[in-house]
Amino acid sequence: MDFIVNRQNLREGKFESKPTPKLEDGQARLRIKKFAFTANNVTYGAVGELIGYWNFFPALEGWGRIPVWGVAAVDESRHPELPEGERLYGYLPMSTDLIIEPGNVTTHGLTDVSAHRAALPEVYNQYTRLAAEPGYDRTQDDRRMILNPLFMTAFLIDDFLADNDFFGAKTVVLLSASSKTAFSLAFLLSRNRQCQVVGLTSQGNVSFVEGLGCYDRTVAYGDIGSLPPTDPTVIVDMAGNATVLRAAHERLGDAVKYSCQVGMTHWEERGGVDGLRGAKPEFFFAPSQVDKRRKDWGAAGFNQRSAEAWGTFLAETDGWLEIVHGRGPEAVQAVYLDTVEGRVVPSQGHILSLE
Ligand SMILES: NC(=O)c1ccc[n+]([C@@H]2O[C@H](COP(=O)([O-])OP(=O)(O)OC[C@H]3O[C@@H](n4cnc5c(N)ncnc54)[C@H](OP(=O)(O)O)[C@@H]3O)[C@@H](O)[C@H]2O)c1
Repeated sequence: MDFIVNRQNLREGKFESKPTPKLEDGQARLRIKKFAFTANNVTYGAVGELIGYWNFFPALEGWGRIPVWGVAAVDESRHPELPEGERLYGYLPMSTDLIIEPGNVTTHGLTDVSAHRAALPEVYNQYTRLAAEPGYDRTQDDRRMILNPLFMTAFLIDDFLADNDFFGAKTVVLLSASSKTAFSLAFLLSRNRQCQVVGLTSQGNVSFVEGLGCYDRTVAYGDIGSLPPTDPTVIVDMAGNATVLRAAHERLGDAVKYSCQVGMTHWEERGGVDGLRGAKPEFFFAPSQVDKRRKDWGAAGFNQRSAEAWGTFLAETDGWLEIVHGRGPEAVQAVYLDTVEGRVVPSQGHILSLE
């Protein structure tokens, strides 16, 4: 069974059941156990045509399967190195099953080398073999599915800004400050650096953001006029809301030393960003920073530093997130629609299952 959405209208979603095809030699069938769902997944749908996110898990013409991060177990295997029962972590569809073609199989992981995924970014085609992971703790699966992909982006942005001496800025302003990607970055900035961290958020999320303790100041979108207009500032935008971004650039003008476009939690409020005052917004491309640091630090050095940062984050942010579990088609559809509509409480993280 698959949850599929209309690619032209993300509010329209439905379930589709079809007979499971027989496996061919070299393939494995994964049983999808559970997955996380946040605004990040809605963004995959919102930019699906542009960036190619619909191509990972093909669906009926005009419909798409939104990718999610989750855990699956090998249900049936015709691959000699992948035994049945093995649990994997990685990029999955909102479905009950997925057929993969394992390649580059090592003790620690494998790549789905299916032809339709070959042209897509490597990082999304890789699966971790959980049992072989050093220090693997199954009780952290849910937090990892929700937070780790978002935290890794935050880790890379934090490193990119430090690597560029914050472009001369002393303040970093984060838009959509209540999002998990934003508060991961605020955590790293507040822990590592000598800069002021300001969060911009909706009026209704101000108290949540204030309560996190990793922002020096929290400002509602309607109060952008209270930002100090002369402090050299970096803007990091997770909201993708053209009106909010324009207001921030207008207020700060030439004080905007760098403007980093990361997300679009406000996916229906996108718009042109030409002609803004201050530095021109630039899209953050995480893989470039990964490549750079893998060269600088080596792959092992990169993994060690990111794992250390992740461990500290997990330990210190234990109380930040209430995990909410939902099982079955109705629960999946309800969380999907709530996330599309922006109705999810920022203190909650959703783990879903179609089993
Ligand atoms: N480029 C990359 O590599 C990369 C990697 C990771 C994440 N991202 C992006 O970063 C963004 C954050 O993702 P996340 O999963 O961390 O988000 P999240 O935790 O699910 O974000 C929830 C927050 O987003 C805002 N929001 C969500 N839906 C909304 C809606 N429909 N209308 C208005 N506001 C809405 C609200 O915050 P406020 O009230 O504070 O605005 C809400 O509290 C996503 O766009 C994601 O794609 C990009």
